[in-house]
Amino acid sequence: MKHQNDNTTPMPAAEYDEKINRTIPYYNEFYVQTFDVVTQCGYAQLDWLDLGCGTGILEEKAFREFPSARFTAVDPSEKMLEQARNKLTGHDVHYINKKSREISFQECFNVVTAIQSHHYMKEEERREAVKRVYDALRDGGIFICFENVVPESETVKKQELLRWGRYQQRHGKTEAEALAHNARCGTSYFPLTVREHIDLLKSIGFTDVHVFWYSYMQMGVYAFKRLQK
Ligand SMILES: C[S@@+](CC[C@H](N)C(=O)[O-])C[C@H]1O[C@@H](n2cnc3c(N)ncnc32)[C@H](O)[C@@H]1O
Repeated sequence: MKHQNDNTTPMPAAEYDEKINRTIPYYNEFYVQTFDVVTQCGYAQLDWLDLGCGTGILEEKAFREFPSARFTAVDPSEKMLEQARNKLTGHDVHYINKKSREISFQECFNVVTAIQSHHYMKEEERREAVKRVYDALRDGGIFICFENVVPESETVKKQELLRWGRYQQRHGKTEAEALAHNARCGTSYFPLTVREHIDLLKSIGFTDVHVFWYSYMQMGVYAFKRLQK
């Protein structure tokens, strides 16, 4: 029988925090790097939209570093949002139970993040979602995205999936579990190549695009909306 989950990841929302580090190499570092990029932007007030917020790990860590940030946290999984609400009790966060393509903000934020959440979308939905991100940003605002990517070469893709599987086995998964996870590539999530991702961001109108992280099969990219000199 097919396992019924309460979100698009292979982990039930209640087990996500415990299991994510076994699956994604350097996952905690994604936040360290994201916050460093945000700091470098030097925005006086942070109006921050987090898409696919999951259990609220980003918000919990960000409130320590940016206590006055104003967060809007979006996720299509009610169970994930429930975990986030519990974790962030006492913080004033605006929660929205939607997919990224369903948001409709106009120039409300200077930071938008999507950490490991946009690779679940196929081409058309993803394009619409990135357009919504663009509309939600003010001029000079930044979109920061981490997600699973694929190498352009099929041979390298196979090699890297196996290498990623070995990472997962070193962190407690069985070989069968690691292989099952890797079978999700292109079936449960739909990764772009780096080139496709950069082209997509530019085609939507983002002016300054930079890949600031790459490890295993994950990339961190940021893109500005009309960067002010
Ligand atoms: C791997 S988790 C990442 C959660 C969180 N950003 C983190 O880094 O821990 C992926 C999240 O993306 C959400 N998601 C799936 N499809 C989405 C979509 N179309 N738009 C926005 N979020 C989506 C899932 O519900 C899940 O919470």
